[in-house]
Amino acid sequence: MNDSDIIAFLETGGDYTLEKLENFLKKVEEDNILFWAIHLKSDNKHIGNIKIDPINTKHLYGEYGIMMGDKTEWGKGYAKEASIAVIDYCFSDIINLRKVNLGVVSKNVAAIKLYEKIGFINEGRFINHVISKDGYDDVLRMAIFNPAYEK
Ligand SMILES: CC(C)(COP(=O)(O)OP(=O)(O)OC[C@H]1O[C@@H](n2cnc3c(N)ncnc32)[C@H](O)[C@@H]1OP(=O)(O)O)[C@@H](O)C(=O)NCCC(=O)NCCS
Repeated sequence: MNDSDIIAFLETGGDYTLEKLENFLKKVEEDNILFWAIHLKSDNKHIGNIKIDPINTKHLYGEYGIMMGDKTEWGKGYAKEASIAVIDYCFSDIINLRKVNLGVVSKNVAAIKLYEKIGFINEGRFINHVISKDGYDDVLRMAIFNPAYEK
């Protein structure tokens, strides 16, 4: 949470202590949200996290977020594999979401490529939405729809 490459396009990070991290994890458990660790099958190494939070139970959509905190494992297809598993779960009879959505800074090419490869489509663009080191950046809104609701 303090590595500038990893948090470059995130809303949070840069000021984490172990205490702050512990408090965050306690809150995650208390809030009963969908939040997973991503581990390698080979040696169980923890390489990232993925969440659906918040979930809107009236309109049946949830906000997706991913962070692969071990950058030595980037570019190996792990974010894609984990994301597909999580979206399949969200669209299964267990969770039954209609739609999964997200926001991504327009300069975050790796994340946008990942989302496009999984099947997310563009829904809109918030202009100059976040402050960046060069000025302001746009934020893209993207979404993927549960095909079961299209019938
Ligand atoms: C964005 C992020 C999750 C990608 O994780 P990853 O494990 O490296 O992604 P994958 O290896 O699963 O790649 C998935 C697809 O995206 C593409 N991709 C990934 N990084 C890319 C890059 N830098 N440039 C172009 N394409 C890229 C891959 O080619 C792959 O497509 P393919 O299946 O056709 O080969 C990771 O870089 C990350 O955690 N970044 C920091 C946190 C962050 O920005 N999170 C997103 C906030 S919105």
